[in-house]
Amino acid sequence: MKKYLFFILVVTISMGGCQKDKGPDPCAGTSYDIQIVKTAAIGGVNNGSITVLYPRGDTLKYAVNNGTPQQSPNLTGLAPGNNIVKVINQKGCADTIHVMIAAYGPKYAAVRQLMMGYCGPCHLDGQSRGGKNLDTDSSIVASWDRIRLRCVNGLPTFMPQNGQLTLIDKQKITDWVNAGHRLTD
Ligand code: HEC
Repeated sequence: MKKYLFFILVVTISMGGCQKDKGPDPCAGTSYDIQIVKTAAIGGVNNGSITVLYPRGDTLKYAVNNGTPQQSPNLTGLAPGNNIVKVINQKGCADTIHVMIAAYGPKYAAVRQLMMGYCGPCHLDGQSRGGKNLDTDSSIVASWDRIRLRCVNGLPTFMPQNGQLTLIDKQKITDWVNAGHRLTD
């Protein structure tokens, strides 16, 4: 019995010593310039997504919020909020970034989608004709009145320039404005 206790004591001490003597962290310096695109979670469902554009490769795996690492760089079924995306290499070393997934209401999501289709060359990707850039959710939400006036009422002239939205798309803007023109409507 005494021998047994002594054994435990020795093992415990030597394990402590082992930790102190640990060599350099084999994962030190694991750093990627992680690039992603993302979509919001729409309508109170956990349907947000993040796609890792860089780095990519057969030897890499991707995980989100400590989920199971996967081969595919498409991370789907995400809840709104802060998500931690992990890129893991073949040594098991990882780099992470934090990615915020927005919560869109269905009416806002429809308006945003039509704007991505029609307003692109003049108001997206850094373009700002008439001083109006619509790249961010906050700029779209803040511009709700201008968007309605220009795209639905055509005052003073219709947007998109040199065209008009379909009745269905105009209705999407009207529905969003009437619901309260918020991100969550
Ligand atoms: C082919 C280019 C082009 C496209 C496409 C386009 N616009 Fe414009 N937009 C302009 C130009 C040029 C101006 C500045 C002149 C003016 O106000 O008419 C402008 C100005 C604006 C303004 C700011 C002026 C104001 O009245 O507040 C808003 C808002 C706007 N556009 C919304 C939109 C929306 C929303 C879409 C997509 C549905 C869109 N535009 C598509 C060219 C474009």
